Amino acid sequence: MTGDTGKNSLAPDWYAGGIEHVWLPYAQMKTVSPPLPVVRTQGSRIVLADGRELIDGIASWWTACHGYNQPHIRQAVERQLRDMPHVMFGGLAHQPALTLARRLAALLPGDLAHVFFSDSGSVAVEVAMKMAVQYWINRGVRGRHRLVAFKGGYHGDTTGAMAVSDTEDGMHALFAGLLPQHHIVDLPDSEERAAALDRFLGAHADSIAGIIVEPLVQGAGGMKFHDANVLKRLRAAADKYDLLLIFDEIFTGFGRTGTMFACQAADVTPDIITLSKALTGGTLGLAATVATRKVFEAFWSDDPAKALMHGPSYMANALACAAANASLDLFERQPRLKQVAAISAALTRGLKPCRGLPQVKDVRVKGAIGVVELHRIPDLDGLRARFIDEGVFVRPFGNAIYLTPAFTIAAEDLARLTAAVVKVVGGAKK
Ligand SMILES: Cc1ncc(COP(=O)(O)O)c(C=O)c1O
Repeated sequence: MTGDTGKNSLAPDWYAGGIEHVWLPYAQMKTVSPPLPVVRTQGSRIVLADGRELIDGIASWWTACHGYNQPHIRQAVERQLRDMPHVMFGGLAHQPALTLARRLAALLPGDLAHVFFSDSGSVAVEVAMKMAVQYWINRGVRGRHRLVAFKGGYHGDTTGAMAVSDTEDGMHALFAGLLPQHHIVDLPDSEERAAALDRFLGAHADSIAGIIVEPLVQGAGGMKFHDANVLKRLRAAADKYDLLLIFDEIFTGFGRTGTMFACQAADVTPDIITLSKALTGGTLGLAATVATRKVFEAFWSDDPAKALMHGPSYMANALACAAANASLDLFERQPRLKQVAAISAALTRGLKPCRGLPQVKDVRVKGAIGVVELHRIPDLDGLRARFIDEGVFVRPFGNAIYLTPAFTIAAEDLARLTAAVVKVVGGAKK
């Protein structure tokens, strides 16, 4: 790694001693700018070792929807820690997990009511894929091993999840040779493309277990939006060809797009939904793959071979489930969706000056997601550093600068974030 840890920074001992031994995410280790040493987080603030405070624009990869160090969640985790931080979920059950399963089932639309817990978003996607494939095997239908997924999609970094992400243009293109083959097609975001999907499914449905999509927003694949009609078309196509429909709501779930779950904006219920990220309010790793009765019943049998063979060691971790229950309390008690609507309006207003700049390709806002897409970002690290100089933590990727703040962010902090984006984009070269 080159450079120091930032202007005026006094790197603490733990930093100097450890930094050579960590392998950082999505980073060329030789040239990456060193990560900033963080000592505390609070609300929408990240406090650095040298005393600087950054306003956080992305809520730790969209997890910390109530802001950091939220007292109600912290107290719930502390209480749980006194009794039982963790116990295996095989042969044993505990109150935080069963309460959470019941609450998720009540919150989700339709009869999405059978909750399989895991520990990260990617694993939740793996579980969904296994559920979909085994659903057919258990019903005595052979050969349905493939999924239909979409260009521009991203579902995680594990092998199965990579295989249903955009394997040509996405960040996992390198591994195309390793990955199982699925069908990566265009989203049906026009009548023409819907007809093309219909033809495709007509020809291949016999080999397809289901369709997987990130509803309304393709996140890490480029922060691209589509409308509710796409989801309605997918539901209709899945019904027509008798395929399972999987919504990956790991990014969009828990209010991010304006409704509690993105599928509710289209009034469409998938057969399987994946949740993670904001599930614990950004406190601990936890994920859930939730299936409808129809899917669950395909596994319900006297035959052990029809069981779902999955079970991570930290499945349904009690601390994480306690955090998730506390997070759901906050959604019940506080006006989160109203806050999302207010953030949406502020993002639209605040990012408007970027429109029409020659270096800007598009400005778009959906719920609490604001995106300024440039034609190109030649020096990503340099751009990221300019945001730090402005006192904000924003982490552009590809050609996109995006804001996904905590829903509790103060109006002044949000205004500082959008002003920083306008200033930095204004100074960016075409
Ligand atoms: C839609 C979606 N699915 C899956 C994942 C993977 O989640 P995780 O990073 O927890 O494995 C992500 C992460 O960004 C995501 O946005």
